Amino acid sequence: MCGIIGFCGYLDAKEELVKGLAELEYRGYDSAGIACFTEQGIEVVKSVGKVEGLRNRIPAKMETGCGIGHTRWATHGGVSEINAHPHTCGSVTMIHNGIIENYHALAEELKETGRTPVSQTDTEIAAMLLDSLYQGDALAALRGAVEKLEGAYAFCILFADQKDVIYCIRKGSPLVCCSSEEGSVVASDMVALLRYSKEYFVLPEFQVAKVTKSGISVTELDGTEVSPSMLSIQWDMSAAQKNGFKHYMLKEIHEQPEAIRRTLTPRMKKGRYLLPDFAEDGIPDTVFLQADRIVIAACGTAMHAGMLGRILMERLLRIPVSVEVASEFRYADPILDEKSLVILVSQSGETADTLAALRLAKEKGAKTLAVVNVKGSSIARESDYVLYTHAGPEIAVASTKAYTAQLAALYLLVFRFAYVAGKISAEEVSGYMKELDGVGELIEKVLERKEQVKELSKRLTPVQDLFFIGRGLDYALACEGSIKLKEITYIHSEAYAAGELKHGTLSLVTGGTPVIALATQPEVFGKMISNVKEVRARGAMVILITKEEKKDGLESGIFEEHLVIPFCRDIVAPFAAAVYLQLLAYYTSSYRGLDVDQPRNLAKSVTVE
Ligand code: G6P
Repeated sequence: MCGIIGFCGYLDAKEELVKGLAELEYRGYDSAGIACFTEQGIEVVKSVGKVEGLRNRIPAKMETGCGIGHTRWATHGGVSEINAHPHTCGSVTMIHNGIIENYHALAEELKETGRTPVSQTDTEIAAMLLDSLYQGDALAALRGAVEKLEGAYAFCILFADQKDVIYCIRKGSPLVCCSSEEGSVVASDMVALLRYSKEYFVLPEFQVAKVTKSGISVTELDGTEVSPSMLSIQWDMSAAQKNGFKHYMLKEIHEQPEAIRRTLTPRMKKGRYLLPDFAEDGIPDTVFLQADRIVIAACGTAMHAGMLGRILMERLLRIPVSVEVASEFRYADPILDEKSLVILVSQSGETADTLAALRLAKEKGAKTLAVVNVKGSSIARESDYVLYTHAGPEIAVASTKAYTAQLAALYLLVFRFAYVAGKISAEEVSGYMKELDGVGELIEKVLERKEQVKELSKRLTPVQDLFFIGRGLDYALACEGSIKLKEITYIHSEAYAAGELKHGTLSLVTGGTPVIALATQPEVFGKMISNVKEVRARGAMVILITKEEKKDGLESGIFEEHLVIPFCRDIVAPFAAAVYLQLLAYYTSSYRGLDVDQPRNLAKSVTVE
């Protein structure tokens, strides 16, 4: 949700900013802009649309070693050049990721100082506020601004009279920083720091980073110096590049076997039995033993991983588990106490609503455990315990490897919990763990069948509406399949619990309507096949997903296309089905000629509420 970058150093800053913005573009691509210190003062260049358009507008002769850049996902004010960042008021030029909630009231107050905005953005009001408070002392102005601003922000600010210096401050929205021989860099995400250094730090909230080419100093708002803790990135630049794949999404789909292995391997304790172990993650068994109820809070795809996790948890643990959409949970006055365990699932670890859900859970005395991909992210830092998925950087907006790695992490949690609570024996856990250990190979087998999915996707290319149906684990998968498809193909799609279809939605199924039916679970297989027949009887074009062992017993004529999951235990079949659904969405989007990695109106990291 908006990507921001600042560079101050010994290279051509405009070039560095544009490269960084291209890497951060997955966070928003409505418009882009930079502001740089030059001999003539601060020069601003903006353009509507993607970073490539901005690159073409930047004068080649602009000489600069220090500047800031922004790629926007519009919240306040439409997509236009005037609303593109950076915004300037008087001596202040700045970029922003987040939302200033009281911008309207502030704008009214600032009118009295003679300042009127030209854009419709909340950011310009923040620039006006800072300008009204700035009298040569950046810290004093920031202190004043922090007192007045409500909402979330990561700011990079240039003061016209402080050449080649960038000031940064944040609340809620992310900002990471690094220094290297080439200079100092700040950004919304470490993917934009990788070219400079593998060592970085997260700017703590309400602390101020003063960025110059010789380094970054961090102080409290009162000027007290602080030394933030350094973190290391485990992966290198190639992990954040396409490496020969046409799209990031396709690359990330193929990375799943490896991503899942990285989630599992550090937690697999080999002995007489193969048991999940969280000693290195510092998650004690008391976390599980003290919980009498579990709440999983998350957004989007992460929430769908939670839906699947919930079913397994209730099945194996026999304690109540609920899954909550984080944006609803936080306003629902949830019933939580110190015996509740709240699990937050998030790829980025920065999703504003999930972060707010975490804070609320803590306030209510619940124990919190985060399943997060991005190291050092806000949710990871603020949770009592964190289980990193180690899926590596995920760039495509549509989540794939982060999702299956979240599933793997949730499976590990369920197995450990069920084992320490005495719900299943070491032998049973070991059996499940061996299956989980084979998931990488299972996915590789599905990927070998991608040509079939590619071919099949041609049939979906002209479609306007379609349905996903399933029961139990397959319903959770149907929800994920549906969101994946609609976010990148723009085809209207609905996920339905197969048994619920006849309570209304069946009226939408007519001749040729595609219905993707998931039937991977034996206990509901017969019922699912009845539901398939119901839609088939109305002329639906059925794409059926079952396991290999069901292949031979199927009646002829109940499907038009059949995707087969290689032999595996039922409990891990969702991993294979998920990959089929991802490929289906990917190829359909590709055939429709759409921007697979950056679908319209969406952004990967949603740091606004
Ligand atoms: C956005 C992304 C989704 C993601 C969701 C939650 O909507 O487009 O792919 O599932 O945010 O993000 P998180 O980082 O918390 O997993």
